Amino acid sequence: MKAAILDLLKRTDAPLSGQAISARLGISRVAVWKHICRMREAGLDIQSGPKGYRLVSLADTPLPWIFGGRSARVHHYPELRSTMDKAQELARSGCPDFSVVVTDQQTLGRGRLQRNWQSQSGGLYFTMILRPRLAPSEGPLINLAAALDMAATLRDTFGIEARVKWPNDVLAGEGKIAGILSQMAAEADRVHYICLGIGVNINNSTTGITPPAVSVAELIGRAGSRAVVLSGFWDRFEHRMKTLSPSAVVAEWKAGAITLGRQVKVQILNETIEGQAVDMDDQGGLIVVLPDGTRRTVVYGDCFHVAKDT
Ligand code: BTN
Repeated sequence: MKAAILDLLKRTDAPLSGQAISARLGISRVAVWKHICRMREAGLDIQSGPKGYRLVSLADTPLPWIFGGRSARVHHYPELRSTMDKAQELARSGCPDFSVVVTDQQTLGRGRLQRNWQSQSGGLYFTMILRPRLAPSEGPLINLAAALDMAATLRDTFGIEARVKWPNDVLAGEGKIAGILSQMAAEADRVHYICLGIGVNINNSTTGITPPAVSVAELIGRAGSRAVVLSGFWDRFEHRMKTLSPSAVVAEWKAGAITLGRQVKVQILNETIEGQAVDMDDQGGLIVVLPDGTRRTVVYGDCFHVAKDT
């Protein structure tokens, strides 16, 4: 019921009377009031006045009912080893497209290239399970799209100048603010599911993280809401996936990324190459020109921007 009330409040900027809510949901006005009290206790800022209730801001903790009509697809845990493991279990057991596993902290958070992802409380850690109709070769485009949408969410929500770095890091200045790890289950010509794991530094400490990281709270000087970030990202990303255009993702990435034109060091599984990042191919691979003029296309790896004279 809380999810249904929240959905109604989210749909309007004008106050909504207790009478209107009770009529829409078929519950008494007293029941409406009790649910509103519990929602406030959970941290939602809901103002009440003579004309009714108005939602001012969401809470921080991404509890399922905060996501209104999406609540049945949200699996929130106070602590997990990694949201990736739980998401794999759910994906294998047939959960719907756009299910989300979210936790307040991870004890064994994973990053790309077998690194760990520091996951203390305060950060946003989630994995979204996707069932896109795509060829496996198009999988990397999903990560690029997710990075673009997370950067846009951070810009719109907090005014942070977030930009993307190949392959799918989100940076604010030179500090990493969000990272993406995805795992795909596929046959030769068809993706079964993708577990898209995203970690965002919101109110967690970033001390000692290398390469340098930065959080929303450090940038804006106050706490940010994890629920608002997840909800904003979800709106954008679900809409994008419904109308996915690989060429549009690549064009948007090229226009907004900070990697192109930069001198880069790219760590691939068994090798590190250095050169100038000059372009992206149609499937999201980074094209790097090496010092001897050879062009290499890198499809998987980690990229560091280096100063031109080093
Ligand atoms: C990276 O930049 O190396 C990717 C980091 C991905 C971290 C997220 S946090 C949620 C999900 N669960 C994990 O264990 N990892 C991803």
